[in-house]
Amino acid sequence: MKTNELKRRHTFHNNEPEREEFFDAVAAGLEREQKEFPCKYLYDEQGSRLFDKICTLDEYYPTRTELHIMQSNIDDIAGRFGDNVLLIEYGSGSSLKTRILLDRLRDLSGYIPIDISKEHLLHSASELKKQYPDLNVLPVCADYTKQFNLPDNADAGARRVVYFPGSTIGNFHPEEAIDFLRTISKVISRNGLLLLGIDLKKDPIVLHRAYNDRQGVTAMFNLNSLVRANRELGTNFRTDLFKHYAFFNPSPGRVEMHLISLEDQKVRLNGTTVSIEQGESIHTECSYKYTLHEFEQLAAKAGFRVDHVWTDEDDMFSVQLLKPLL
Ligand code: AVI
Repeated sequence: MKTNELKRRHTFHNNEPEREEFFDAVAAGLEREQKEFPCKYLYDEQGSRLFDKICTLDEYYPTRTELHIMQSNIDDIAGRFGDNVLLIEYGSGSSLKTRILLDRLRDLSGYIPIDISKEHLLHSASELKKQYPDLNVLPVCADYTKQFNLPDNADAGARRVVYFPGSTIGNFHPEEAIDFLRTISKVISRNGLLLLGIDLKKDPIVLHRAYNDRQGVTAMFNLNSLVRANRELGTNFRTDLFKHYAFFNPSPGRVEMHLISLEDQKVRLNGTTVSIEQGESIHTECSYKYTLHEFEQLAAKAGFRVDHVWTDEDDMFSVQLLKPLL
């Protein structure tokens, strides 16, 4: 392989969020009436590993259901992309579902996995390079909710298709989801496409099980945010004094994940202390669930029309292809 070719194939764009940003977010979140931790900080190396484990749990239906939908409809999905596609994945993680697309779309002009967790991203990018030696993989480490640059050497007139699976859009509040979709529409421009995984509204008991698994993996995932803060920000959260709590809140239509304090306690935060009362919670994540109609309306507000929807037999989950409205 020539040097330039080597360089092109191994370009890595690093826009990893800074420690200061993490500190500011935690400090601001702990000052609120309802204390909160921004959910993107759940995904350090350990958090990403725990999330991968969650995806394999019996109770956590979204991953296997989405995989099933993708596998059952891959010809239809890929057929709608056309030729000469640049695939851009937001929040690529271990790129598990992407492999279904990569196996089918053999003539991609490139694949850009974007993830906030650098180690996880680089590991899965190097695995992909082994498995798809001809694929132009251009990993970008970034907080994709913020402005960041895509590698400028990937396009060559290709149609940009953004893939955002896993119902990660459900982790945004609806207004943020609209803003985020608007940003994506700028990235893909008029002839681009957006393939999204969206979790659907269902029996709250099923949701409760999915976010309170028997093995306690989701609890560890949640508590890991405190471990991360202790390591990176020098806080002294005691994980044994917090309990994982997740429930479906029907009015906003979301699962909420919290950490409930088991005692009155004080936590060190850069020279000051934050008091947390017994029974008080830190809200760590929202996971919105939509009906097909609700999501269609949200997409329209962001300038998209839903071109096609694929679901499973029980209507648990949906994969949706969106096109920018002209
Ligand atoms: C990444 N995201 C879509 C997951 C969800 O279901 O909201 C994160 C998660 N939180 C707890 N379990 C899984």
